[in-house]
Amino acid sequence: MAVNPLHPPKIPLSDEEFALLHELIYQHCGLRFDSQNKSLLESRLQSRLRHCQCASFRDYYLYLRYDRRREEELAECIDLVAVHETYFFREINQLQDFVRELLPEFMKKPNQPRTLRIWSAGCSTGEEPYSLAMLLLDEPSLRGWDINIIATDISPRVLQQARRGIYRESSFRVMDPNYLSRYFEPAPGGMKLLEPPRQPVTFLCLNLFDQHRQGLIWGMDFIFCRNVMIYFDAAAKQRVAELFYDKLNPGGSLLLGHAESLLNISTAFQLRHLSHDLVYQKPAAPSAASLAGQPKRTGS
Ligand SMILES: C[S@@+](CC[C@H](N)C(=O)[O-])C[C@H]1O[C@@H](n2cnc3c(N)ncnc32)[C@H](O)[C@@H]1O
Repeated sequence: MAVNPLHPPKIPLSDEEFALLHELIYQHCGLRFDSQNKSLLESRLQSRLRHCQCASFRDYYLYLRYDRRREEELAECIDLVAVHETYFFREINQLQDFVRELLPEFMKKPNQPRTLRIWSAGCSTGEEPYSLAMLLLDEPSLRGWDINIIATDISPRVLQQARRGIYRESSFRVMDPNYLSRYFEPAPGGMKLLEPPRQPVTFLCLNLFDQHRQGLIWGMDFIFCRNVMIYFDAAAKQRVAELFYDKLNPGGSLLLGHAESLLNISTAFQLRHLSHDLVYQKPAAPSAASLAGQPKRTGS
């Protein structure tokens, strides 16, 4: 039977191949897929199997494990199966609490050097760190401060898009049009972000489970990790919570997405209520639990 090159036959993913692939992805980056996601993996990865000239998912699994190009291919694979949904000023109430409550308190700390270090972990195409940059530009009290927003993601493709800084309508779904007129200009393919909000943001490719590259991050005052941990199981969340604890300065804050919490994951942080949200704070002085190297007992 002749094969139409425009519609090649679908390569099936067996339960056994799904289990192998799933475990490989989980070990690499903490993403969990249940059996309902099997057909999603099957359809999203078809083009990669063809690209790598793999006749079956078993061949593709072996390619991901042993080929010379395995690291690049794993990045392509993760990019296709991860959720990258994001938009400017997502969960705006939390961002406002950050600017109105946490930031003034932080700036008033005794002996506070005029530096502010923020990590946007799992930044996708950049809307989150750029929203923070726009909010901070509106704070006259921060003039003269050295502001660094480190924005990281596992996917080189989304980071490339973030650096390009050209956005379509869906990214602006909740943004005040005032920001659009002040910080964007029309460009081929959408609206292009102007220089001021780009200036404090540095993008880095970082897998939250890659211990070798974690040394790139240190001394954070605030960590935003929103809508990333929802795709992890409890064990992966614990590892990431420990990483964040380690990377925060004493008294620093961790802000999660509204569907996420560290309940039953970590007791090392102090939970604090803001006007609209919750924030996890690293104690200003190390707690007994952290001194004992036990940041992961259960609790809220
Ligand atoms: C749904 S987006 C969230 C974007 C943004 N934080 C927000 O709330 O709008 C999740 C991002 O986390 C990234 N991600 C998933 N697992 C990761 C890991 N192990 N290390 C780094 N980034 C990861 C994905 O590539 C994706 O771009």
